[in-house]
Amino acid sequence: MTIHHPSFGTIADDRVIMFDTTLRDGEQSPGFSMNLDEKLRMAEALAELGVDVIEAGFPIASAGDFESVRKIAETVKGPVIAGLARSGRDDILRAAEAVKPAERKRIHTFISTSPLHMKYKLRMEPDAVLEAVTRSVELARDYTDDVEWSAEDGSRTDPDFLARCVEAAIRAGATTINIPDTVGYAVPEDIFRIFSELRARVPGAERVIFSTHCHNDLGLAVANTLAALRAGARQIECTINGIGERAGNAALEEVVMAIRTRPDAAPYKNNIETTRILRSSKLLATITGFDVQPNKAIVGRNAFAHESGIHQDGVLKNAATYEIMTPESVGWQKTSLVMGKHSGRAAFRDKLRALGYGEIGDNQLNDSFRRFKDLADRKKLVYDEDIVALFDDAVVRDHQRVRFVGLEVWAGSKAKPRAVLELEVDGMVQTAEALGDGPVDATFNAIQAIFPHQAELRLFTVGAVTEGTDAQARCGVRLEEGGKLVDGQGADTDTIVAAARAYIHALNKLLVKRERTEPVSLSA
Ligand code: KIV
Ligand code: ZN
Repeated sequence: MTIHHPSFGTIADDRVIMFDTTLRDGEQSPGFSMNLDEKLRMAEALAELGVDVIEAGFPIASAGDFESVRKIAETVKGPVIAGLARSGRDDILRAAEAVKPAERKRIHTFISTSPLHMKYKLRMEPDAVLEAVTRSVELARDYTDDVEWSAEDGSRTDPDFLARCVEAAIRAGATTINIPDTVGYAVPEDIFRIFSELRARVPGAERVIFSTHCHNDLGLAVANTLAALRAGARQIECTINGIGERAGNAALEEVVMAIRTRPDAAPYKNNIETTRILRSSKLLATITGFDVQPNKAIVGRNAFAHESGIHQDGVLKNAATYEIMTPESVGWQKTSLVMGKHSGRAAFRDKLRALGYGEIGDNQLNDSFRRFKDLADRKKLVYDEDIVALFDDAVVRDHQRVRFVGLEVWAGSKAKPRAVLELEVDGMVQTAEALGDGPVDATFNAIQAIFPHQAELRLFTVGAVTEGTDAQARCGVRLEEGGKLVDGQGADTDTIVAAARAYIHALNKLLVKRERTEPVSLSA
């Protein structure tokens, strides 16, 4: 059977809508906040990846959230742009205003339906919740034909009450019905039963798309998502790298590759260009400063690495012995020596194109080309991963108030480490000298001397982009100011320079956050 949807037209029965909430559910988890430029860059990458819906944010949460949803709605072409709203009038009007410029827009409104949430969180009687469902969906429909309604904590909701709420939402005009496993409590059997029952018993169910939104608290988000598809759900809510509240959401890359690798068990279609998966994953890691763990399915560094002799021997004879999908199908390339200090601008542009960046503006190209030359001078072998790290870093750093100019450090076991740092602050170059307990501490003290601030350093991490002693270092810095956490990230062949870049990146994010109003909590 086919469904007619206001944004997608007639949808074949085996077509699954990919709804990405990296910029909303993902972004609202601690340490994963992004500024406007970063969200825009990520939204462009999601559009290129082929997601059908981008949930761009929660517009009433803060002025910054509103602004980024609005900007994404204005500029990102292709996917439907969705804004989240609780059931109240102000939330819905704010979401409607934010998504207004989009070619295709969605308001996603939600309210809790479980006994626990209604009693303790909402302090509302079930009948009042039912009325709010109707009111909120009707109001949202005044602004767009594409309205999604979610039953927060749906998997722990009484089945009869859930059916009444879903019926009310459909009657009021919802075109997508989402049943989240908000706390990641369900097992696949629960999810299969919930979706099967709703589709069988709710009047009008055949006219809407059912959607699944699974959290990963028991590590079951992907399994539960596939169970929902088996029971007839045709929209998947997920995030890149599985980021999201607490243990995260279902990982887009895992769900998509499960469908692609096992068409016998999961006979569904979607529009994801799988060869762009790795790029999106790496971009998110660069922006947020959080790498995925090495053994992460699909996008982890070891996902296609074969260490044991028996496995290596098998893969050399026939890759299918130990590989259920090809690394190339998700965007991995055989690491190759790509370019050196003699490579020119055109070759560099070509390389970026081959790495999946598409057409690049001259400003971005100039900046990253300069840093590439610098890198090629200092590092014998320049790998694809180095170029990706360097380019993403340059893009993320565009339009920042504080910029790194230069650093000199004296360290060792004899004298107290000393750093002389040059920064450009609002266009003016300033220099400071500082001592510290180590070279990193001296550098951070020099930043403090040039740009005094109250933020506390909460986390400092160091990793390597590629292998060898001349590898680029990737550093992460987490700062906290007045309860707000920001993460910065920096890459360079010099670990201390990478640390300085990461600190400055975090500082810039903090400056953006300071301009935002206080966020409100995400509860209906
Ligand atoms: O997990 C959840 O219930 C949510 C809703 C707001 C859709 O994220
Ligand atoms: Zn969620």
